[in-house]
Amino acid sequence: MPRFEGKYIPKIPRFGTTIFAVMSRLAGQHGAINLSQGFPDFPVSNELIDRVNHYMKKGCNQYAPMQGIPELRRAIADKVESIYGVRYNPEEEINITAGATQALYTVISCAVHPGDEVILFTPVYDSYAPAVEINGGISIDIPLKRPDYSIDWDAVRKKVGPRTRMIIINTPHNPTGSTLSQEDMEQLDDITRGTDILVLSDEVYEHIIFDGKVHQSILRYSGLIQRSFVVFSFGKTFHVTGWKMGYCLAPANLMKEFRQVHQFMVYACNTPIQYAFADFLKQKENYEGIGDFYQKKRDLFLKLIKNSRFRFKPASGSYFQLLEYGDITREKDTQFAERLTKEYGVASIPVSVFYPRPVDFKVLRFCFAKTEETLEKAAAILSNI
Ligand SMILES: Cc1ncc(COP(=O)(O)O)c(C=O)c1O
Repeated sequence: MPRFEGKYIPKIPRFGTTIFAVMSRLAGQHGAINLSQGFPDFPVSNELIDRVNHYMKKGCNQYAPMQGIPELRRAIADKVESIYGVRYNPEEEINITAGATQALYTVISCAVHPGDEVILFTPVYDSYAPAVEINGGISIDIPLKRPDYSIDWDAVRKKVGPRTRMIIINTPHNPTGSTLSQEDMEQLDDITRGTDILVLSDEVYEHIIFDGKVHQSILRYSGLIQRSFVVFSFGKTFHVTGWKMGYCLAPANLMKEFRQVHQFMVYACNTPIQYAFADFLKQKENYEGIGDFYQKKRDLFLKLIKNSRFRFKPASGSYFQLLEYGDITREKDTQFAERLTKEYGVASIPVSVFYPRPVDFKVLRFCFAKTEETLEKAAAILSNI
């Protein structure tokens, strides 16, 4: 293929290929157990697959409405109301998206203007900063406080100013497995009250929270709801990350702006899958036990590596567990993650990649959304290092 010989100025040169693609490829090349990227390796509900099949055969195969099919938006409104006690209007305040990733990108694109500042907490999920910068915004990174990865609200107060357009939060948190508390949400409310600051809340792991904790959604805080876009993922909740389906909630005036961009970004999302989710969401048992389901996996994984040389604090949410390896080697996390994949056959994600500048805390992230068999095999290897 002839190369393009014209002038091309990269838009976001500081970001390489996403680490998830890099580590999953490396895992594949070396036949390693892949605990790097966040996706389950167990089967999807047959009932859900049957529903998709049913709607495909029924002829629901053409473009859905731009905002999503009404049945699904209504089912979401009902679910949200039953859990969080707040009613979003399906017509004006809910939009179906091609995964949470698209929702996040669309929110940032519709809200962030060149020169706007967006506050992010590091280590940070890797799609936010590129989306901010593609849109001409400036990421303002605030490190989470170690070892519990909590938000330093005094630091936030110091960084907030007239150019702050948005604060992005994520609870339960990827990559650290930490969760925000009621006090955190009250601090956020206090800092943003009376300002033009918008909040983007990534809650894709809303149901994956452990040890009796309550998910502190934006949707529990009326003061925050009015300024927030809240993003969810069916992929994470129903173990179907490959279907790339999610949704965004926002008050009508913000949702209007969201749809301005959404219509030209994807226009509409997969039709038969939307019908299937509309049915599936109506049965609470399809999502209510997910926290317990994953807590068992976390507990099994941690029990099996208890006598290893890795050190850890159990994750309080998400399906990620951080392991510190400082007692094993002085290698950088990127080097150790690579060696762990190639020599030992277990792939993970080095946490330093979730920071904008090099850090060296000697921490790796492992995904435990896996079968018992996968976790047992991986734990046996990790325990012998
Ligand atoms: C915090 C966070 N937000 C968003 C996403 C993307 O979700 P989706 O697959 O629905 O695009 C992920 C996926 O790993 C995630 O961990």
